[in-house]
Amino acid sequence: MHKWIMSGVFFAACALAIVLMFTLPGKEEVAQEAKPTMPEVTMDAGQAETLVKANCISCHGDQLQGGVGPALANIGSKDDVEKIYSTIVKGKGGMPSFKGRLQDEEIAHIAMWLAEKK
Ligand code: HEC
Repeated sequence: MHKWIMSGVFFAACALAIVLMFTLPGKEEVAQEAKPTMPEVTMDAGQAETLVKANCISCHGDQLQGGVGPALANIGSKDDVEKIYSTIVKGKGGMPSFKGRLQDEEIAHIAMWLAEKK
């Protein structure tokens, strides 16, 4: 009799563990949210420059000298490409998120281009 109760409890615990496994967000998912992964692209400076002119200079200045937003002329010596990518995807303070406004690949071109500005 006692054995039956014990195995009942055991199976209930297993069922609960399985349910939790599917409902709780996986560790991987959480990590991805915190630091978006950059798609691999071969940097196209021309495309990057066009995108920056269209989307960024209104706040960061036409020579990236800064304006509403900080100067980006030497951003590469401060932030690495991943950090810049993440800033553009997620936004920061007064800067809007570009997720959905630009394609991930376009953001990657911009991030790589800016990372070379040292
Ligand atoms: C609406 C104005 C606005 C636009 C448009 C904008 N930014 Fe920004 N950006 C800001 C502001 C304001 C900050 C400072 C945020 C803070 O530190 O709180 C910032 C910060 C940054 C930073 C971090 C700079 C640092 O020194 O830490 C990067 C990189 C950046 N922007 C890149 C871009 C790129 C690339 C684009 C175009 C795709 C862009 N921004 C478009 C306003 C803007």
